[in-house]
Amino acid sequence: MRRLQVKSSAGNYDVKVGCGAWGALRKLKGYTSTFVLTEPGLWAQWGTKFAEDTGWSGVRPILVPSGETSKSLTMAGRVAAELLNRGADRRSLLVALGGGVVGDLGGFVASTYMRGIDYVQAPTTVLAQVDSSIGGKTAVNIHAMKNLIGTFSPPRMVLSEPAVLASLPPRAFQSGIYEAVKHAILAGPALFGWLEGKVAGLTPGQTPVLETLVARAAQVKVDVVSRDEREAGLRRVLNLGHTYGHALEEATGYRRFLHGEAVAWGMLMVTRLAELSGVLDSRVGSRIVRLVRAVGPLPALRGLKEEKVLGLLIRDKKAVGGKIHWVLPEGIGKVRVTPDVTDAAVASAFRDVQRGVWND
Ligand SMILES: NC(=O)c1ccc[n+]([C@@H]2O[C@H](COP(=O)([O-])OP(=O)(O)OC[C@H]3O[C@@H](n4cnc5c(N)ncnc54)[C@H](O)[C@@H]3O)[C@@H](O)[C@H]2O)c1
Ligand SMILES: [Zn+2]
Repeated sequence: MRRLQVKSSAGNYDVKVGCGAWGALRKLKGYTSTFVLTEPGLWAQWGTKFAEDTGWSGVRPILVPSGETSKSLTMAGRVAAELLNRGADRRSLLVALGGGVVGDLGGFVASTYMRGIDYVQAPTTVLAQVDSSIGGKTAVNIHAMKNLIGTFSPPRMVLSEPAVLASLPPRAFQSGIYEAVKHAILAGPALFGWLEGKVAGLTPGQTPVLETLVARAAQVKVDVVSRDEREAGLRRVLNLGHTYGHALEEATGYRRFLHGEAVAWGMLMVTRLAELSGVLDSRVGSRIVRLVRAVGPLPALRGLKEEKVLGLLIRDKKAVGGKIHWVLPEGIGKVRVTPDVTDAAVASAFRDVQRGVWND
């Protein structure tokens, strides 16, 4: 078991990564009652293991349908009503067992139910284990506006069981691995080089490798959010690849790409943008491209209109005062956050990657 520690103004908390991680719930005492929020399919597959590992026999989870549409105020209201019906009070504990959707929804409900109760993240996707479960950001969507309403509210702990990843469909699995690649670009040559040796042919059932991968990639997020809990500045680096990525997701109505896949394309584009802006050596750029490409196939960019995608860039939530803060890789382990890139370079980077005329 690996133990990482997140520093937070509301109290430090542990991220435990390893087989049997859920067992840490056995030691959490002092709650009047405990609840689990999860999805039906996930519970059918992993509920028995969860009950065994935690000793919570007979636990009856609160279930929400899988999928992004569950991250809604309506669903948050339903979960809160269910908690109330079952007698949850201010000293109850909620465990969010699932991917980023269950984690964001569960965290949001926990941080607002009776003005806030404790919650534990038990992430079950690669994305959730390396990224969304750490840092205390919770949210629901309003119509198409992702994460419009949310809170900063750290969990009591994060328990990442790598064995649970075995049931992930290949695309969902790879989508999370792209976020791990992002963390490796931010972290430096040690993690990047290690991933270069592991990523090709990696499958969801390779539990020991995944335990190391999750722990090392999660450490990057832990370090960033421990230094910048409320996204005052440094935390922006986590947005690497996301400016183009969000635009790609939006331009395709969130249907063509999984989030990590859009981010993967976004990382390729921003790598090209960094080269065109003269801040990245093309040999290092090629290394980034190779690692992203090694994860697996990406849905094509075919038919995407340049004007549409570029028009969506500025609407990114992370834009400050109408300026996009680009996160440009300058090397492995070094990024520059800057609004100073030319529109022409932004357009060329998109075009070059779409047409595959660069590094493909
Ligand atoms: N809070 C944050 O800091 C933060 C950061 C990044 C992303 N997010 C949010 O995370 C969400 C995306 O998370 P996600 O990619 O985990 O999506 P998700 O929660 O929808 O999970 C993806 C799919 O995998 C299924 N699934 C989950 N675990 C499984 C398992 N072990 N085996 C088989 N199937 C499983 C789910 O049912 C779902 O269909 C988005 O809503 C995004 O906004 C939040
Ligand atoms: Zn992301």
